[in-house]
Amino acid sequence: QAEISRIRNISKVQFGRYDLYPWYFSPYPETFAQEDLMHICEFCLMYYADPKSFDRHRSKCTMQHPPGNEIYRDDYVSFFEIDGRRQRTWCRNLCLLSKMFLDHKTLYYDVDPFLFYVMTTRDDKGCHLVGYFSKEKESLDGFNVACILTMPQYQRKGYGRLLIQFSYELSKIEGKLGSPEKPLSDLGLLSYRQYWTENLVEILLEHNERDERCSIEHLAALLAMTASDVESTLQALKMQVYHKGEHKIVVPTHLIKKHEALKEKFKTKPKRTIIAERIQWKPPV
Ligand code: COA
Ligand code: NA
Repeated sequence: QAEISRIRNISKVQFGRYDLYPWYFSPYPETFAQEDLMHICEFCLMYYADPKSFDRHRSKCTMQHPPGNEIYRDDYVSFFEIDGRRQRTWCRNLCLLSKMFLDHKTLYYDVDPFLFYVMTTRDDKGCHLVGYFSKEKESLDGFNVACILTMPQYQRKGYGRLLIQFSYELSKIEGKLGSPEKPLSDLGLLSYRQYWTENLVEILLEHNERDERCSIEHLAALLAMTASDVESTLQALKMQVYHKGEHKIVVPTHLIKKHEALKEKFKTKPKRTIIAERIQWKPPV
């Protein structure tokens, strides 16, 4: 595990039409550390130091989308499900690529126990990698996400929300409550907290309008979140109060205002969400 804490070794990566500037060490072959630029094929994820070899590869590579089955498509994005055992090389290359932006320990070589859910955007050239999450085929701890990443060129545009929502939609189909593997990175925690908050507030306000109470268990079931993630979110937002001998969940005014502002914004620019009915997927048996 010593290599994981090593300092950043790749300075610049050419990936499709983007230049990427890695944040962390990734265990690519050592020779790449001496290069100024690494070329990665955006479809098969193979990596090259020599531009001529890369050009030769690009003229031969016929891949235009990730391997595996397309299990979701809307006007905006597609999702592909990829089995780490069946697509070992591709998934290892994905792990190497994503390690450049992930600080914590991950297994790069043993991809067999994982499924990879890869999100892409389409154009006439193909389906371009935007982000992904991995998921253990059998998680004894009930984790529904192992690793999650939005490619840096696509970050802060709402794609992380879509990835997180997709992971919970799969849990709903499985009839399970899910939670991301810990520890989360700082960015991971920020994104999950935001996702959890937005969704909990929305449901609570809907219940308020109907004058209905909502328990932690009910919230958990509706969102396929664990009760403990619901509770920790409510606690962090100081939404649980004890009043006249009763536990209650209240939505603070600043969150109601934020929610109203978002609703207003979505009138002109509709919120991007995963349309659950479009997911074509059965839990693997
Ligand atoms: N600073 C502050 N808040 C941030 C943030 C940042 N850099 N990135 C995300 N957030 C919060 C914001 O509340 C954001 O909502 P907003 O943009 O409307 O304010 C919300 O998370 C969702 O952001 P979104 O654009 O949907 O997320 P993303 O596509 O940038 O992806 C990650 C989020 C975590 C997947 C991405 O940052 C990433 O890949 N990081 C590197 C890998 C990593 O750390 N993964 C988690 C490992 S456990
Ligand atoms: Na996010």
